[in-house]
Amino acid sequence: MKAFRRFLARTPFYGVYKSLGHYPDYWYWKLRGEPIRSPHLLKQRTVREYAARYGLRVLVETGTYYGEMVAAMKNRFAEIHSVEFDSALAQRAAKKFSRSPHVHIHGGDSQKLVPELLKGLKEPALFWLDAGYYGWAGLQGDKQRLTSELEAILKDARYQHVILMDDARGLNGQNGSPTVPQLKQRIEAEFPGRSVEVKYDILRITPDALSRA
Ligand SMILES: C[S@@+](CC[C@H](N)C(=O)[O-])C[C@H]1O[C@@H](n2cnc3c(N)ncnc32)[C@H](O)[C@@H]1O
Repeated sequence: MKAFRRFLARTPFYGVYKSLGHYPDYWYWKLRGEPIRSPHLLKQRTVREYAARYGLRVLVETGTYYGEMVAAMKNRFAEIHSVEFDSALAQRAAKKFSRSPHVHIHGGDSQKLVPELLKGLKEPALFWLDAGYYGWAGLQGDKQRLTSELEAILKDARYQHVILMDDARGLNGQNGSPTVPQLKQRIEAEFPGRSVEVKYDILRITPDALSRA
């Protein structure tokens, strides 16, 4: 099965194969009593829910991977930016979404690209931070990457964005990462008018009032 999956991952059908698994994955997760690691369908629902709640039309994702979130959100957002460090994955995604001019795949490190993307935004955005902040496929990564991206987004003087970060269980105080209460305390003190909470392994940073400049 593993070999088959590895083979499929090299073909253009991998996205379809993965999306077929979303519903069984979701129900298997429910059957197991909703363990901490949440299924992709729930993540998609959360992204949609926050976009609707805050009237957001722009999605910025860190970590494109096989473009599952982009594919699921393609018809929901007017503009999508997704950043991928692995150049083969970035090229593959750029090709996959080449017929959707509102989808922009950016190859590179999210820590460098998030501040650049912020400068180009013309309205508040929904950020889906999902770039393996606690190590990904052997990439050790910069421990400060998450904090530096969060700060760049929260310090944006023009717009108050909404931030969702996946795998919040990684915020456990180990290996230089803050804990959720530490991060919450710091964000709510430094950026008054923002609330921080974790639900279903997703960290949610929301502005009390969403301003459009
Ligand atoms: C969990 S996957 C993303 C899944 C995707 N967001 C989705 O919902 O379908 C994490 C991705 O982050 C990428 N990544 C890791 N470090 C990164 C970095 N510094 N900048 C951008 N992408 C990075 C990995 O290569 C991997 O493709």
